[in-house]
Amino acid sequence: MLYSDDVIEEVRYGNDIVDVVSSYNISLKQRGGNFLGLCPFHNEKTPSFSVSSDKQMYKCFGCGEGGNVYSFVMKMDNVEFKEALNMLANRINYKLSQTDNLHRQRKAGNDNKDRCFEINKLSARFFYDTLMSEAGEIARKYLDNRKISKNTIVKYGLGYSGNSGELYTYLTDLGYDPNELVSLGLIVKSKNEEKYFDRFYNRLIFPILDGRGNVTGFGGRIIGSGEPKYLNSKETPVFDKSKNLYGINIARRNRNRELILVEGYMDVVALYQGGIENVVASLGTSFNQNHVRVLKRYCDSVILAFDSDQAGITAALKAMPIIAQNGLRVKVFSTNEAKDPDDYIKKFGKDKLKEQFSNAKSGITFQIECLLKKYDIKKPDESVMFTTDAVKILSEIDSSIEQDVYLRQVVDLTGISDFAIRTELAKTGKTLSPPVKPRRIKPPTEVLMSASKPNKAVTEAYKRLIMIMAYEPQVRNEVSKYLSIDEIHVDIYRDIFSNIFELCFKNEQIYPAEFLNRFETPEDQKVVANIFLSNDDIYISTTEKEVNGLVKKIKDYHINQYMVGANDDESLKNLENMRKTFVDLYIKISDG
Ligand code: UTP
Ligand code: MN
Repeated sequence: MLYSDDVIEEVRYGNDIVDVVSSYNISLKQRGGNFLGLCPFHNEKTPSFSVSSDKQMYKCFGCGEGGNVYSFVMKMDNVEFKEALNMLANRINYKLSQTDNLHRQRKAGNDNKDRCFEINKLSARFFYDTLMSEAGEIARKYLDNRKISKNTIVKYGLGYSGNSGELYTYLTDLGYDPNELVSLGLIVKSKNEEKYFDRFYNRLIFPILDGRGNVTGFGGRIIGSGEPKYLNSKETPVFDKSKNLYGINIARRNRNRELILVEGYMDVVALYQGGIENVVASLGTSFNQNHVRVLKRYCDSVILAFDSDQAGITAALKAMPIIAQNGLRVKVFSTNEAKDPDDYIKKFGKDKLKEQFSNAKSGITFQIECLLKKYDIKKPDESVMFTTDAVKILSEIDSSIEQDVYLRQVVDLTGISDFAIRTELAKTGKTLSPPVKPRRIKPPTEVLMSASKPNKAVTEAYKRLIMIMAYEPQVRNEVSKYLSIDEIHVDIYRDIFSNIFELCFKNEQIYPAEFLNRFETPEDQKVVANIFLSNDDIYISTTEKEVNGLVKKIKDYHINQYMVGANDDESLKNLENMRKTFVDLYIKISDG
């Protein structure tokens, strides 16, 4: 969206909903804290259209329409949000112009970026042409030795940077200013600032493209041995190595919702050539949040296939929680028989590697196995340390069902008693983990296949609990420790809970009309407005007992959904165990 949340909120704040509604020739009569009138959205003779001045929202008890001042204008004038914002800003003489400036600045920034992409693209083309020319023979031989085919070269636009100075001459002849080439990291200035050199020379070139196909930077491998083995673009206006995923431009075309994440350029290229096209590399940079943000657009599940040395294992262990916390599934391919996936293909062939990928173990299993290597659990003291570390891993799992599955795995692998592990786990207070960040976790589809829609009692429980949590910070804080959004089974309610948890996390107060801004479609806004205006009393009175009842109803439904899909005694038993844990759950809400 073009305008910041602050602007949107300021404009809303300046437009009192009672004034705005009245300005549409709807006559409103005060009834207690609310105003009542004839609904403009359906035909009626007795007023059922209620506008709350406290909440700055409206709701029709006849047709169910509801929302805040934005939804009202959008609906009345049949306009988009942006238009409604303009109209309401005008109404209070609020200038949106600063943001126009911002827009213009952004546009200038984009023009500059386009120019960078253009220069990078010309350079990539130049490197490719050099590779194919006579001068490129040495690099072609190198590729040939590594069994890289012509088709793969073309697909990834590989190239060769020959003698230093050639790219400089080529680009300046085209009229580009040496200084902008320096800022793009293609050219370097000599110390006394008199001479220019090509940054890349005598290297095999891997152009790095973003998901849209723009060339953002380059990696260059030395032909033969030497240091550094790979030279990469420095940070430029268009190259941010913490975001780059080499190969994303090609992997994204693959419909596969699973991506393989490797370390190096060569791994990507070799796997692609072996018919594994859903592969990207994080390029030696440690994998971070920015990478996940890019990945999330293209996949639901990631297989980590890093190098098999200790650095690769450590990197995988570090990447795992980052990926999992963003709601993506993580699996791991690891082997002692090859140094990296490229090497694995060379030794065992592509079919064997594909088989390995389809049998990749879960991230949790991998973590537990790493622990088993670290400790000798036959020794009592190390067994204790192992259990402590394993429990830490288990406590990070945010589906209680999964937690249970892996807990059993630890029991099976180690012979450490179920009871001992559960006791430790209970100490972390995370047997049912609290949602730290709002996120949407898809329950495993195979289990949920036969899920039915929640009945009215369950949706009523969602609504009532949302209402209570919105107004009672105490309840909000306590409940959010025991309820996680993957236990909510209707999209819109899950969104609402997720937003409430987020506000709770930030310790912010909830104002219904402002809260509504967080929802984009009129349908969603309507549901939210209906929850907050479902009855006339502003002050919610509730009891600890009611809250516990609501939480149980919600959890009970959640488990039943799994029950429907569970088809063996083992999982049924697990689910029953889970049910037992929450039957005993009682959330205390202190009023201090
Ligand atoms: P590797 O050393 O594992 O490279 O580094 P590789 O891909 O297996 O290379 P080959 O097979 O020997 O050609 C993994 C990745 O780390 C980055 C590169 O992105 C590389 O692909 N790296 C490595 C650098 O950026 N600079 C270096 O000097 C070395
Ligand atoms: Mn490698």
